[in-house]
Order: sequence, then structure tokens, then C-alpha cells
Amino acid sequence: MKVELTDHVAREKSHRIATMKNRFIAIFLLVSIGLTCALAQLEPSPTLRSLADARGMYMGAAVAPIFYDTTEPDYGMVLAREYNMVVAENIMKWSALSSGRGKFSFNAADGMVAFAQKNKQAVRGHTLVWHESLPSWVLTIKDKNEMQAVLKNHVQTVARYFKGKVFAWDVLNEAILEDGSYRKTPFYNLLGEGYIADVFRWAREADPNAKLFYNDYNTDGINKKSTAVFEMVKKLKSQGIPIDGVGFQAHIDSNFNVQQQRTLENLERFKALGLEVQMTEVDVQLSGNAPKAERLAAQAKVYGDMLRACLAAKCSAFITWGFTDAFSWRAGSSPLPFDSSYQPKPAYFALLEVLKNPTVTMPAVAAPAPTSSALEFASFADASKSLQGGAIVKTEYNEKAGDAKVDGISVTNGVLTVDYRLSKQAGSTFAGAGVGVNALENGKTISLVGYNAMRLQVASSQAKSLRIRISSTDQAIINAGCYPVVFLDVSPDLKTYTIPLEKFAPLGYCGSNARTLAQVISNVLLVEIADEGLPSSGVRQGQIRIGKIEFLK
Ligand code: XIL
Repeated sequence: MKVELTDHVAREKSHRIATMKNRFIAIFLLVSIGLTCALAQLEPSPTLRSLADARGMYMGAAVAPIFYDTTEPDYGMVLAREYNMVVAENIMKWSALSSGRGKFSFNAADGMVAFAQKNKQAVRGHTLVWHESLPSWVLTIKDKNEMQAVLKNHVQTVARYFKGKVFAWDVLNEAILEDGSYRKTPFYNLLGEGYIADVFRWAREADPNAKLFYNDYNTDGINKKSTAVFEMVKKLKSQGIPIDGVGFQAHIDSNFNVQQQRTLENLERFKALGLEVQMTEVDVQLSGNAPKAERLAAQAKVYGDMLRACLAAKCSAFITWGFTDAFSWRAGSSPLPFDSSYQPKPAYFALLEVLKNPTVTMPAVAAPAPTSSALEFASFADASKSLQGGAIVKTEYNEKAGDAKVDGISVTNGVLTVDYRLSKQAGSTFAGAGVGVNALENGKTISLVGYNAMRLQVASSQAKSLRIRISSTDQAIINAGCYPVVFLDVSPDLKTYTIPLEKFAPLGYCGSNARTLAQVISNVLLVEIADEGLPSSGVRQGQIRIGKIEFLK
């Protein structure tokens, strides 16, 4: 009995304890679930935007007015979720804002500003002065005073209109050429270099609070062009011209090597002038023939390295030129952090990781420089496949029949030999025999971004100097017909020559149509090797021999 009672009490007690325990567990679980939910509400998974906010910087994207398109609901959703700043890809350019003299239309840009305000995003202005996207009537102006008045009116009308809405302007875009000289724009041609200081002064007058930027491409590393930009802004600063920052566009390639280009060092020299630095148009096109996953990983690395350099230099903004591959101006090359279905790519996660944990020390410069795979000729069939359009030797510049005649072509031990006869016709200015070789990586187009030099084996029995020309597969460039060239002194023996790519200069006689290497750089390539050396008149019988061609990093 006692035992039973005791049992009963014990059971009762243990039941009570069990109930209490269960209740406690239940309460504990409820509280912890509640806490987790509350915490989850406080800390949703990070986005580019939330991490940038926490750092007090901008992550931005160039936008097209696609957020109006009801068939693309994800566009506005992802844009608002991931970015705390927007910039107009096109709708604040001169031709978009002004269809005729004195006529302005701000509707499309207003729509973008409204979208940004609704989503609490800052708006960056792009661009007040640029040689592209100009309405045709501006191009017809021939008078200096008239051009000055028109330019001032444009800068001030636009800057005044967006006062208080745009926090920073690209006042001047792309005014320097690759060789460091001033771009011969319609403004420069009539007004001289003084227009540069003027546009900054006018912008400051119109909107004293907006930050004023100079913006350019191929200035992401240390090179002739970025050094010229540096000297220009240094001069502007020393003269008290109102300039607050420099934008580095960074339209690059998955081969871009941030360390080798010394991007951080470059940004820091501008910072040392007291200027703000921003990466303003980053996109990284996929290049090479590796499997897609590898190329996406290379792209992610470039994005991560660029952002790391940007953060290390305490840049105030990192802006991509679009955000989804669905609407990129370099659509074929999938250059953006989101794919065409708005799914994040490895590049997106690289940006996220670097924002979470930027290791400000850059990894050491990569060891031995890789080269492109060499073009070698195994047979005549092989060689003719890689010759331009199947043509073996063609006359250059002057298509008068008979300027050059092929006597023979052969391949021995990987060396292509072309025998030619060259005669200068009465009345013709040029005569030349050219061999066009598709010097492509495994027969495919190669991007020269990140390559520093060209190595080739070449010889000429007659010409002391051969003209090496790099051209592009881009139709616009073919049509312009002017490519970067270098003249190479050669011997009759087959020798290997290395030419730094920076030695390639735009072709003088093409004038302002000349293409710089940077213009053909991302969709190259064809190498033409020509003897164009008949100075006055006469006939020359000669031989050009070409061995390996490759590009060095
Ligand atoms: C590009 C736009 O992305 C294209 O849609 C347009 O057709 C041409 O302009 N540098 C700049 C940008 O400063 O304005 C350019 O934008 C890309 C190069």
C-alpha cells in the first residue's frame, strides 16, 4: 500500500515534472523560435545594397527604363533590392534630353528619378559632356562662340534641372585618347582645351552641391592614358577648377589582371590629389574558350578583385554597367553579375563576399605570364585557313590589279612563305603586299585585354621594315579601315621579335578615323604583315616568311 501510495505520489510528481519540463521546453522553443524570427526580421540575408549601406558606400547599376515594362517585373525588383544607387545608362545623355536647339525633354529621366526616390536610391548623373550621343544639330555648329554658348546652356540647363536630385555628375566623359592626347571632339576642335575647365565651372555654378566627376575608360590600370588623365585633373585642381572626383569605367574582360594593371596604385594616386574615386561602369565580359563554369569563375575573380581594389582605395561607389545579362550593351559576352533570368552568378557572390570581408591586401602578382596559344602553320591547308578571307596576298590601299602578284606560297616546318612581286603603278601613291593572318587562339577570336606584347617570327628577303597591323572582327572597325599599326625592322633571316602592344599607334593617314589598339582590343583579331615599301617606282620581287605568332601577358 505504502509502496503503491509512494508510487502514485512519485508518478504524480514525475508527471508534474515531466509536464513542467515539456512546458519549459515548449516555452523555450517558442521563445527561441520567436527570437529567431525577430532576429531574422532584423537581419535578413545580406544583399549588395545592405552591405554597401553598412559600409557607407554606393553599390550602383546603370539602368534602362525597363522598370516600366510590366513583362519584366524582376528588373525593378532586383534593382531595388540590390542597389542603393542608380545611373541612367542612356536617358540623361545629350541626345536623349534635347532633340532640337533649345528643346529639352526630361520625361524619361524624371521616371528614373521617381523610381529611385521611391526606392530610396541615390541618382548619379551621366553625362553632361561627351563626344558621343550628340544630337546632329550640335555637330553642324562651326562657330566658336556659338559652340561655347550651346555647351554652356546644355550643361547648366541640365545640371540646374536635376539640382537636388542628382548627387554627382559625370561632367566630362572620355576626353582623353589612349596616347594621352586630348580627344578631338567637336568641343575641343572649336574651343581648344579650355572647354574642359569651363564645363566644370559651369556645372558648379548650376548646381553647387553636386559632386563633379571626370569619367573615362581604359584608365583602370596605370598606363599612358590614365597618366594623362591624372596630369589633367592635377592641373585642374591646382588651378582651382571645381572637380571632386574621377570615375573609372572598367569595361573589362575576364582576363583582366587587377594586380598586373596596378589598379589599386592607380586609384591611390588620384586619391592623393584629394579626389574621390569611383568605379563607374564595371562590366567583365567572358573571354577565352574554357568551359563556361571556368569562365564564370574567372569573371567572378575579376569582379571581386576590382571591388577589393576599390574598397582598399576607399572608393565611394562601385557601379556596374547594367546588372542583368538580359540588358547589357555587351549582351553577347554575359558581362554582368546577374544572368538573363535575374539569377545571381558567381560574380554576384564574389561581390557579396568581398563586401562582407574585404581583404585589403592584394595577393602577390601572379607568377609567370601566360601566353595565348601560338599560331603555327602545319601545312598549306592550315595556313590558308587562317589567312584573311582565304586571300593569300593582297594589295594594300590601292586595289589596282597588278600591284602585287603572288608567285608562290608554301609551308615548311611551320613557316609560311609567300613569294610576291610588287610593282608600283604610275599615279598610285602606295604599293604593298600584305599577308593577313587570322592570329586567333585556336582559330577563335582573342581579346587582347590583359596582354602586353605580341611575339612573332618573321623575315623579309627584300623589305627592311614590315608593317604589322592588328585589326578587328568588328564590322564598324573594318568599315572605318584604320587600325593600329607598328613598323618592324626585320632581317632576311627568320627571327623572333617581341613588340610591346603599347608601341602600336593609330594609323596617321586615317586621321580622326584611326582606331587605337584599345578600340580593337575586345574583339580582335587579325594580324596583317605587309611589305608596303616601294618608295617611288619600280618592281620588287620578295618573300615574306611568318612563323609563330602569339600574345604575351
Ligand atoms: C553605352 C550604352 O550602354 C549603350 O546602350 C549605348 O548604345 C552607347 O553607350 N562609356 C560610357 C557609356 O560612358 O555612356 C556607354 O554607354 C558605354 C561606354
